[in-house]
This record gives sequence, C-alpha cells and structure tokens, in this order.
Amino acid sequence: MEGDRSECVDREVAPAKINLALHVTGRRADGYHLLDTLVVHGVAGDTLTARPLAEASDGGPVRLELTVAGPFAAGLVAEPDNLVLRAARLLEVEARRLGKEPSAVALGLDKHLPIASGIGGGSSDAAAALRLLNRVWGLDLPRSRLAELSRPLGADLPMCVHGTPLRARGIGETIDPLCDLPSLPMVLVNPGVAVPTPAVFRALTRRDNPGLPEMPAHFRDAADLLDLLAATRNDLEPPAIAVAPVIGEVLAALGAAPGVRLARMSGSGATCFAVCVDETVARDVAASLAARGWWTAVGLTRPLERLE
Ligand code: C5P
Repeated sequence: MEGDRSECVDREVAPAKINLALHVTGRRADGYHLLDTLVVHGVAGDTLTARPLAEASDGGPVRLELTVAGPFAAGLVAEPDNLVLRAARLLEVEARRLGKEPSAVALGLDKHLPIASGIGGGSSDAAAALRLLNRVWGLDLPRSRLAELSRPLGADLPMCVHGTPLRARGIGETIDPLCDLPSLPMVLVNPGVAVPTPAVFRALTRRDNPGLPEMPAHFRDAADLLDLLAATRNDLEPPAIAVAPVIGEVLAALGAAPGVRLARMSGSGATCFAVCVDETVARDVAASLAARGWWTAVGLTRPLERLE
C-alpha cells in the first residue's frame, strides 16, 4: 500500500514583501538604481509545496514539476522561465557542486498575491522555493548563502529569502536585518493594474535623493516606528502614479479612511498599504476599498518564522 502521500508534502510560505519606505539614492553604470529601503513581510502570501516524486536519478537534470493554482494562477504560465523553477535549477547546481544528488519533486504554487504588483510576489515565490528545496534536499545552507545564490533572479530576491524586517541598500543586496521591528496592522490594496517596474524607474525625475534617516537601535512600539516613517517616502510613488493614475486614487482613498496612520505605495506599485490603528480598523478600511472592486488583504506584518 502506498500510504497517505500528503504526509510527505513539505510547505513554505511566500509572504508579501512590503516597502515601508523606499528612497532612490542613485544609479549604477549598468542602469540599476541604488535604493535605501525599509522592508517588512506578511499580511498575505502565496504558498509553495513540495511532494517527492518516486523517480531514480539518471545523472541528468532532476525532474521538477510545477503546477499553479489559486486566485491569481491565470496570470502565470508554468513554463521553464517561471521564477520558482529558475530558483530550483540554481539550487540544483549548488547541490551538485556540494556533491549532493537532488531528488525529483512536484512543486505546487498556490497564488494569492497579485502579479507584478510591487509586493514581490514572484520574488517571494522563488525565495520560498530556495528555502523549501534547501530543506527537502537536505542541503542545510544558511539563509545568507541562499540570498547570494538568488541574486541573478532579481534585485528583490535577497530580501525575500531573508524574510525578516530589514533595511536594504545597494540595488537590494546589502541587507541589515532589523529583528525587533514592531508588527504593524495593515491593509494591502491593489487596483488591478500590472505596473511594469522598468517603466516606473524610467519615469523618475530625480535619482539622487537622500537616504533613509538614522535608524534607532530599538523601536519602542508601532507609534515609534510610525514617527520615523513620517520622515520617509516612496520615491517611486510619483512616477508610478504617472504610469498608472489609479494608484493616486487608491492612496487618496486610504489616506481619507478613518483610523489610517500611514498610506503609501509599496515597491514600484501598484499595491498600496495603509498602517491602521488596529486590525479591526484595517478590516473596515479593506471592506470599504474592496467595494470599489479592488483586491485587498488584511493582517499583521511579521517575520517569516512567526508566519510558519
Ligand atoms: O531585478 P528585477 O528583475 O526585479 O528588476 C526589473 C527592472 O527594474 C530592471 O530591469 C530595472 O529596469 C529596474 N530596476 C532598477 N533598479 C533596481 C531594481 C530594478 O532600475 N534597484
């Protein structure tokens, strides 16, 4: 008898990545922009599962299958260039370099985050694939090594691999974890327009803005963090609004809602967030914006370990 195969399924969350602040501080010779950004995770997310496939290795590339389900599955085609599979192939190479033989797996992606929306959906899925297969294949690589391996897959990848609150500089590869950053009650809102990141960076009018203010060693509470955030920005907001004016409408609606302490866009948009007084208020805000046909999610920001 084969037994209950579901027992063998391993699972990893791929939380939304939210840029509480994002300052564009310069541009490299290769065109990539230098950032100074404060990042948290959570509120909503995708999930990735891995089920072992009974297949002996023939020495060639390991068999990897990917199926995509969930409300945003249609926006993704499970093709070889899917970031999840590209991440898996990168880790396969690393496994062999370490003298280990990766086993065949069927990956299942449950897609709940909107596509191309500034909350790192695809990057977070790929980061989850690295963490998940690191376990399944018994590689035991530290997060810092997984983050290093992830860099060819995109500037957001290392932040998503870490999954802790953090400050990222460079193009996203220089990471300082901020372990005791207070959790924030938050609503995420996406008006359903996919905003291409390169177009938003191209529409920037100024690329040499000041970085984030001095970061205290410790935040007492959410109010303390909000005080700091009041002196920060997302420099990609004006160019993103120029590309997709509906983002301005989302921000205006969030800013006018009772109990909202901060309304801002994440990443290059179009998803915006509101930090609310508490989760009950966040649910009310989400309900009023969902009534306009916009995607919403409510929850607390929190480090990866507390999401699992
Ligand atoms: O690295 P990723 O694939 O997410 O970046 C997509 C595009 O966004 C890049 O090709 C580049 O045009 C722009 N980008 C940038 N500076 C960054 C990150 C992204 O100019 N730090």
